[in-house]
Amino acid sequence: DKGNHKHFMEKEIYEQPEVISRALGHYVDLIENRIDLEAVSIDFAKVQSLAISACGTAYLAGLIGKYWFERYARLPVEADVASEFRYRDIPLSPQSAALFISQSGETADTLASLRYCKDEGLQIGAVVNVRESTIARESDAVFPIMAGPEIGVASTKAFTCQLAVLAALAIGAGRARGTVSRQEEERLVRHLTEMPRIMSSVLNSIQPKMESLARELSKCRDVLYLGRGTSYPLAMEGALKLKEISYIHAEGYAAGELKHGPIALIDENMPVIVIAPHDRFFEKTVSNMQEVAARGGRIIFITDEKGAAASKLETMSTIVLPVVDEIIAPMIFSLPIQLLAYHTAVFMGTDVDQPRNLAKSVTVE
Ligand code: M6R
Repeated sequence: DKGNHKHFMEKEIYEQPEVISRALGHYVDLIENRIDLEAVSIDFAKVQSLAISACGTAYLAGLIGKYWFERYARLPVEADVASEFRYRDIPLSPQSAALFISQSGETADTLASLRYCKDEGLQIGAVVNVRESTIARESDAVFPIMAGPEIGVASTKAFTCQLAVLAALAIGAGRARGTVSRQEEERLVRHLTEMPRIMSSVLNSIQPKMESLARELSKCRDVLYLGRGTSYPLAMEGALKLKEISYIHAEGYAAGELKHGPIALIDENMPVIVIAPHDRFFEKTVSNMQEVAARGGRIIFITDEKGAAASKLETMSTIVLPVVDEIIAPMIFSLPIQLLAYHTAVFMGTDVDQPRNLAKSVTVE
């Protein structure tokens, strides 16, 4: 049932505050503002490194998770797409843990990487939506994302729920490893629990702007997304979402890679979507934006109130989100990215929920 939404994808985008809050309820002790370590059923204190493997959007969530596990838990992380991971002959130690992220829990390559790690003696954790799935069944620890059924082929609420769960796990791992103090844990958890409310207000406020911008995007052939830090995987997710449902060619790049190639593409016909909250990378990303502007590129700037005030650059459009803590920025900044892809596809008249050539669950290699 789509309720009063035109597509399942739209419904699922708007469901995010509710489902994330439910997912967090599973991992967070709301009275103490701490991670519930019983829900984090891998003993991260004893783990030497972490391997993350997944496909598509789930892989991009995993890449953001990598930044968090490295930063908060000081844990070395290896993250790769499952189709490469399974065949790379990765030397893995039984003192490591492996996380497999999958909405369906049935993706063939992800399952094969899981079995590879199991044979190598690693502790196996699964971040899944479908708890009865094969990946969940074959894992030592199951971390449900509790997004509810996701019907749209383009993943939206599963992505942000995966992120919420990975954030909670990384903070919990940090606590277990002594790299996150009690005070820091409480601070981070408070930001996580505030997130659903912020998501609701962002969803309510940005929609009209996303629709008018989508009208512009629907005329383009190519779009480039740029970001740094956790905004880099998010740039790739933005590009993936747009290409999946609108069939517009899009690429996501680390902003620092601009001058190593993609800058050659810049002209007035290819919008450049820059994802840049006012974080520790902001100045660097703005200097990449200047390089785009100097070559006549049109910029769609997705930033926060601080970032909008700090940048003097002329843009095609600036989307201003509230200032939020770094730990929740990827979830909040996912919203304009999802809506932009969604409305662009609606303008183009594609089959948004069932885009051509794609399946919801890829159970063959
Ligand atoms: O069910 P899974 O999470 O394992 O699926 C992985 C990918 O096939 C999936 O995320 C795909 O990239 C989506 N269509 C993205 O929107």
